[in-house]
Amino acid sequence: LAGATENLTWTVSPVTRELRAENFGHRGAVLWLTGLSGSGKSTLATGLEYHLHRRGIFSYILDGDNLRHGLCANLGFSAEDRSENIRRAGETARLMAEAGLVVICSLISPFRADRDNVRKICQRDGIPFAEVFINAPLDVCESRDPRGLYKKARSGEIKEFTGITSPYEAPLAPELELRTAEHTLDNTLLDLTHFAVDLSRIP
Ligand code: PPS
Repeated sequence: LAGATENLTWTVSPVTRELRAENFGHRGAVLWLTGLSGSGKSTLATGLEYHLHRRGIFSYILDGDNLRHGLCANLGFSAEDRSENIRRAGETARLMAEAGLVVICSLISPFRADRDNVRKICQRDGIPFAEVFINAPLDVCESRDPRGLYKKARSGEIKEFTGITSPYEAPLAPELELRTAEHTLDNTLLDLTHFAVDLSRIP
């Protein structure tokens, strides 16, 4: 869409990000949880949101499964659709962080380039961004199989399933890596919460 922004003007609000942060007592940020299906993203995201809420930190979860019911309802699981899915979620997260929230994004987001792009748009706008790798081996995720999706993927009922018939590119330099198969949920959640609280602190 070359030239699509040519005749547009950016409206600047007198309420700056700094003023919002002052009101909220913390700054907005984007925590990007990436990992295989069944790695523990949603469990950690909901746990984290609860702990942040208890500490008076305003947050909100953007979950891949949930977004696909609305904002991303017209997208499937081809590489192109996944990229567009991440772009939409990333742009939404950026806006919500701009509004002062700690946005917990929980999407498989299998492609490095898509995650890097979200990082870039956040950093360009001065929004704190952290990639959190929810790392669990494929065989562990597959044995957990909470919704029977791996079974369906193995039988061919679900096509292009991440880790089976569609690639997952693990982060090379995530700000935080959580190995959910090696630690208890409580300990992992504690690490994640401390990290998120630090990220939301006004410098
Ligand atoms: S992505 O790759 O980031 O665009 O995916 P995301 O939006 O996070 O959606 C992942 C959830 O969709 C369900 N599902 C699939 N996942 C992967 N591959 C295929 N083909 C697929 N089909 C449906 C699945 O429930 C994923 O949720 P989680 O919570 O990750 O298991």
